[in-house]
This record gives sequence, C-alpha cells and structure tokens, in this order.
Amino acid sequence: MRRQTSPCRSRLARIAGAALALALAAPVHAETGYDLWLRYPALPAADRAAYRTAATAIVVPLRSPTGDAIAAELARGLGGLLGGDVPRAERPRGAGAIVVGTPTASPLVAALGWSAALETLGDEGYVIRSTTIEGAPATVVASKGEAGALYGAFHLLRLIQMRQPLSPLDIADRPRLGRRLLNHWDNLDGSIERGYAGRSFWWPAPVAARVADYARANASIGVNGTVINSVNANPQSLTAPFLDKATAIAAILRPYRIRVYLAANFAAPKMIGGLATNDPRDPAVVRWWRAKADEIYQRIPDFGGFVVKANSEGQPGPQDYGRTHADGANVLAAAVAPHGGVVMWRAFVYNADVDPDRVKRAYAEFVPLDGRFHASVFAQVKNGPLDFQPREPFHPLFGAMPKTPLMAELQITQEYLGHANHLVYLAPMWKEFLEADTYASGPGSAVAQVIDGSLEGKRETGIAGVANTGQDGNWTGHDFGQANWYAFGRLAWNPSLGAAAIADEWIRMTWGGTPDLIATIRSIMLDSREIFVRYTMPLGLHHLIGGDHYAPMPENADPRRADWSAIYYHRADGRAVGYDRTRAGSDAVSQYRPPLRAWWNDPATTPDDLLLWFHRLPWDFRMKSGRTLWDELVFSYGQGADEAKGLELRWTTLRGKIDDERYQAVLARLRRQSDDAAAWRDKCLRYFEAARARRP
Ligand code: GCU
Repeated sequence: MRRQTSPCRSRLARIAGAALALALAAPVHAETGYDLWLRYPALPAADRAAYRTAATAIVVPLRSPTGDAIAAELARGLGGLLGGDVPRAERPRGAGAIVVGTPTASPLVAALGWSAALETLGDEGYVIRSTTIEGAPATVVASKGEAGALYGAFHLLRLIQMRQPLSPLDIADRPRLGRRLLNHWDNLDGSIERGYAGRSFWWPAPVAARVADYARANASIGVNGTVINSVNANPQSLTAPFLDKATAIAAILRPYRIRVYLAANFAAPKMIGGLATNDPRDPAVVRWWRAKADEIYQRIPDFGGFVVKANSEGQPGPQDYGRTHADGANVLAAAVAPHGGVVMWRAFVYNADVDPDRVKRAYAEFVPLDGRFHASVFAQVKNGPLDFQPREPFHPLFGAMPKTPLMAELQITQEYLGHANHLVYLAPMWKEFLEADTYASGPGSAVAQVIDGSLEGKRETGIAGVANTGQDGNWTGHDFGQANWYAFGRLAWNPSLGAAAIADEWIRMTWGGTPDLIATIRSIMLDSREIFVRYTMPLGLHHLIGGDHYAPMPENADPRRADWSAIYYHRADGRAVGYDRTRAGSDAVSQYRPPLRAWWNDPATTPDDLLLWFHRLPWDFRMKSGRTLWDELVFSYGQGADEAKGLELRWTTLRGKIDDERYQAVLARLRRQSDDAAAWRDKCLRYFEAARARRP
C-alpha cells in the first residue's frame, strides 16, 4: 500500500530540503574548534598572489614517515591558505619550490653547503632561507635531523599564517630545552584526573584519528614527548595489554617525533610482578625493573622513560622501605638509561612529619639528595611550592639543586583556575615564573636559566605541562584552553618568547587577522590571569577552595588533612589574616636566597601580590595604596568581579566578526565566569567579614 504523505510530513520535507540547500551554500567547514591553530583558511585574495609565486611546488626529499608527514602538512597547509593545491615534485622545476630536507638524505640540500650551520643547530634546529637552486628562486627548510625539518616546515607555514613575507628569509632556530613534554593525567578507564574536556583519547583504547591530529598539533609547537597515563599510576599500565596500546600510540606519534613515556607505579614489582617487595636495594627488584624496561624497549625502541610520583598523596615509594627518593629513582634510571631513557622523579612531596608548613617540605627532602641521583634522573618540580595556585612564588628548589637536572612542571589544565569554564591565558603566569630571579648565582639567575641548563652547566634539560586535552570537539572544552596548550609548547621551545607575541600568533591562526579583532582578543587574554587572581586570591591568599578545586570555600576545614583545608592557609580570625612564613613564623623565606629571603621577610618589601602568602597581618595593616588591608581585599574582590563581567562585555564587541559557533560557545562560558567571579567576591567577603568580627 502506498503511504500517504501527511501535510505535516511534506512541510517537514520542505524544511529539510531548504536546510540542505542552505547547508550546501554555506561554508562546508563548521568551526568546531577541532582544527586548533592549524585551520589554514584561505588568505584574502589580495595576499595570495605573492605566496603563490613563492610556493609553486612542494619538494620533500626525505623518504621516511616523517618526510611523508612534512609533505602532507605542507600540502594541506599551503592548499588551504593559498586556496588551491600546490603539487608535490621530486625536484624543483623552475621558480617557487619549497624544499624541506636534510643534507644526509638529500644531495640537493647537501649541495647548498650549509652543513656547518646546521651542525650547530642540532637535530631539532633548522634554517629557513631564501636561496636559488639551479638559478631559480626557492625557499629551503634544512636541518641536520628529520625532527628539525619537521619543525621548520611548521615554522614556514606559520609565517604564511601570520602573513609574513616569504622572501628574503634567513631564519635559524632551535629549541632551548631538550625534553618538551605533555603529561596526561589520564586513567586507564578513560577518565582524566583534573580533566575538563571530555574523556581520554588514549584509554581504554586509543582513538587513532584524534591521536594523529594531536601529533600534528604538538609537532607544530615542538612538543617532543608525552606521558600517556596519570602520575597516580595504575600498575596495570606496565602489563602486556596496556603496553600493546602504548606501542600502537607510539607508532602514530613517531613520524611527528613525539616519544611516548609512561607513569610508573613504584609498587609494580609486587603488584604486577609477584615479587615480595619493592625495596629498591633488593636485587630481585633491580632485575625486575631492568627486565621491564627491556620489554618496553623491545616494543617501543624510542620509549622516553618513566615519570614517578612516589611517597606522595598515598602513592608507594622507596621510603616505605626506609630508602631515599634517590635510591628509588636510581633503580628505574639504571633500567632505562642503557636504552637512552630517563626518569622524571616528581618532587611533589609534602609529608607532614617533615615540617608543619606544607610549602617547605619538598625542599627539605630533596636538597640533601642533590648529587645522589643517577645521571638519567630529573627531579620534576612544580612551578610553585604549593600546588598550581593562580599565583605562587617560584619553587625554592629552582637554583638549589645544581647537580640534578630539574624538569619544571607547569599545569595547562586549569585545576585551580576555573577549570574549562574560565578564560585564563596562562602565559603571563608562566612568564612570571620563568623570569623570576632565583639569585642562585647572584642577580640574573632566572628560573629559565636554571631549567635550560645555562646557569649550572647542565646538559639534560626539560619542561612538562599537565595537559588540558580530551575528546571534546574543540579538544580543551573552552576554546581559549587551546591558547594555553599552544603557549606551553612555544615557551617550552623558547622560554624567552613574550606572552603577548605568543597570543598574537595564536589569535591570528585561530580566530583571524583583522587588527581590531586581534587587539580585542589580545587584551582579553593578557588581562585575564590578573583578573582571575583578583577575584580568587587577592594579595596572595591561597587555596580558598574545597575538594573540587573550583568553587570558593574559605570555610573548608578538610577532616582528612589540615593542609588540604582553606583555614590552614588563610588563618583568618578577629585579629589578622595570612600565613606567617617569615623567620618569626614557619621560616619558609629562608629557603630562598638573599636578598629574596630578607625582602620577603618584611611586609614593606614583599610585593602586594604575595603579601599574605608570606605574612599574617592585622586587618588594619596599612597597604602601599593607603588603604587598610581589609579595604584592599574588598577593593580587589570587587575589581576582579567587575573585570570578569568586563571580559564578557569586551567579547560581545566581536559579534559578527567571528564565526557564530565559537562566538556563542565562548560567550556562554564568559557569562558563567562572571557569575562565578561575583560568587567568589560575595562568599569570600562574607566569610572574612565574619572572621574579622570574631573576638581574637
Ligand atoms: C594535585 C591534584 C592531584 C594530583 C596531584 C599531583 O594535588 O589535585 O589530582 O594527583 O596534584 O600533582 O600529583
């Protein structure tokens, strides 16, 4: 029987038909954010002509998976930006070839005679030069190694994305830090600790297409390693089924020169190896780690090594057997070192028996171990001594372990900075850390020089960022979370880059190139971190949160541990507020070098933004502004909340200037942010007002 079409059904069909016609007429590509800063939209027609002349053919004389990745990326990038395919060729045929290669693999590149320059730039460095090949103008990206060729190719694409002229070019660049890693706190069941952007793309099974795009994005910013499981490591990650998955992941990442690393659980010998102990001095334990490392390298020849969280927050470790962190780290290092691997032993330890003040404990435990670690061990140290607060002084371990390579650990995921709901551009915070003067060898001993090895003559160098990615369509939940991933990579490559310059790159590649759009987004980004600090931790007040590390909870008195509370840190009562870390208090100031220890010992020479980090002061303390401390707190919370609202208003001026999908998505999150900021102001001020009213 023929089915009758109801009038309603035919109306629906007409609407669907019209929608389809509209969809076909609209740009094919919806802006989901998935493409990150590698969108490669067509340049305005007027700009294209010059680039078309300079890019007539892609010549990549590297017969390798990395060579294929380079050629594919250039084809994709140039094809998109120039609005038409650029053919691949075996060798330049006339003007405008883009050549990418190494002297070893390509006689064409060797014939240019640049080998001496390439030698000094190393395997990951490169030159990009305008030159002539057989009399025809060409642009050549050359490197000693394939990794450098890959990074140089992305640099060349970035030049076009930034609309820089392609001629004449004479660029030489190389990374300042050796190991540039993301740390994923991803659990084997697919959940992500402190992850706010969907589930893991590593576990329980790798999502191949996303892993491949992740590799492209990281290669574009020079990230060369990734730890694919959480530091709170499930020992199963070292068993065959999970090593199979890690092997598959490594195969996808390898062409992009990204090594896989694993977080190891120190109790693995007992928990998965059937041993009676994990004692690092026990020969059976030593043998077990050797055999495990051999097994991993058999599968993953370029395996990077292990990160270990030991004797921290309930994790097992060498101290369970009366051994030191060095004893523990050295056993794993001896196992991976013959294969070229390293161990990153985390210094995020805060055993309450060591010192009553949590921020002093890691220094107290690690400084005496300087010189006792195997050469392949890094101590991995968070930027600040507490735990990724929106503002902390630098960790006093930087500059205090001259014999141990230090890997700085930054947090890209916004655990304490509004999760994926708040727009906070983190580069200014990281720059503050990198530029902080440790005075370890007198004035001019910045953290950046400690970690790049130049201050103390270290050869092993590195930096790790706790990733903010997941399976969300735009990878990071908040579209501006992408900026923090991007900025981490750029600063890992070169800690001297500026926060504003990095923002400009990211904005142009991610949002568009008109000057007013760039200026508006840049100002939002550059102001955002200080605004967040004002409404969450003015004057250095810290950890005013509960277990979710999100909402304001100054009343939090965590029954599990005092140092997970808020009251442990702010100590507010009728008389005063703040944590006394002066010589008269916990004496944390003495973990810093002169003159810092003297400056921070005195409220008059402590910067306002760290005042209550180091001092406990009466409510009527007179601030540099002339206000009382209480009035200054009221002022800051109010200003921060107003400015958060201002971010939302600034964003609304961009309506119609960017795609509506991302405009609306960001707007919704900015609204949430300004509501949250008002809640922070109201709750904290109510709480401190009541504390102030209590009799001492
Ligand atoms: C923070 C975070 C934990 C994490 C820990 C770490 O405390 O809240 O989730 O495990 O840092 O860095 O090990």
